[in-house]
Amino acid sequence: MKVKDFYENWEIGCIPKYAKLLMNFEEELIFDIISNLDEFNRIKNKKEALILDCGCGFGSFYNLTKDLNTIYLDISFNLLKKFNIKTNKICGDILNLPFKDNSFDLILCINVLEHVDYKKALSEMRRVLKKEGTCIIVVVNKNSIINEELFTDWKIYHQPLDIKDFESIEGFYIAYWKTFYFVHPIFKIFPTKILGKFLKFFKKVDNKLANTKMFKNKGQFLICVLKVR
Ligand SMILES: C[S@@+](CC[C@H](N)C(=O)[O-])C[C@H]1O[C@@H](n2cnc3c(N)ncnc32)[C@H](O)[C@@H]1O
Repeated sequence: MKVKDFYENWEIGCIPKYAKLLMNFEEELIFDIISNLDEFNRIKNKKEALILDCGCGFGSFYNLTKDLNTIYLDISFNLLKKFNIKTNKICGDILNLPFKDNSFDLILCINVLEHVDYKKALSEMRRVLKKEGTCIIVVVNKNSIINEELFTDWKIYHQPLDIKDFESIEGFYIAYWKTFYFVHPIFKIFPTKILGKFLKFFKKVDNKLANTKMFKNKGQFLICVLKVR
C-alpha cells in the first residue's frame, strides 16, 4: 500500500487503548522537548517568524505553534479534514513543497521522514528555509534498543533513521540531538489503568536515561535540530 493511501484511509477510532496511551506518552515527550529547546524559543520570540509544520497530520502538535505564523502541510486530505482549524492548511508533498525558496524561519517535521526519501525531503526543506533557518526533526531511531512494534512494525514504507544519517546532509549542520522514549514494550501487557500510572512515573525517568552515556543513542525516537549552513 502507498503511504498516501494508508493515511487517506486512517481512522483514529481503530486504535486500541494501550496504543493511545503509548502514543500520547510519546507526544507529551515530544511536546516537552521541543517547547524547551532554546532554538525553538528563539524563533518563537521573533514576531515575524514564519513556521511550517511539514506533515502535520491532524494537528497533534498544533499547541506548539497555534500562536505563531504557521502553515500546516500534509499529503493526506483526510487528515487535514480531521485537523480542526479553518485556515493555513495546505495539502502538499514534502518532496515537492509548494513554496518559494527562502520562505520559512522554522520547519517542524515530526514522524514524517520515515515515510519518504529523507534526503530528497531534507533538500526540499533546505530550499524553502531562510538563510538562518532551522529544521526540527523527529524520527524513529534506527539504533533503538526499545523496538516498540507500534512505532516500528509498519506495512507501508517506513525507514527509521539515526543521527549518522543527518551528519552529511548538504546545506545543514546538526545543532542539537538526543534520543528519547525508553519504555520497554513488555509494559503494554499491563491493564491500561496500571500502564497509565506507570507512564506518568516514567515521564521523569525518560529524560534521565536519555542523558546517560549508555543510553544516549538508544531511545525509540531521535530529535535532531538542523541549522542552515
Ligand atoms: C506518523 S504521521 C505524523 C503526523 C504528525 N506530524 C504527528 O506527529 O502527529 C506521518 C504523517 O506524514 C504525512 N506524510 C507522509 N508522506 C508525506 C509526504 N510525501 N508529504 C507530506 N506529508 C506526508 C502523513 O500523511 C502523516 O500525516
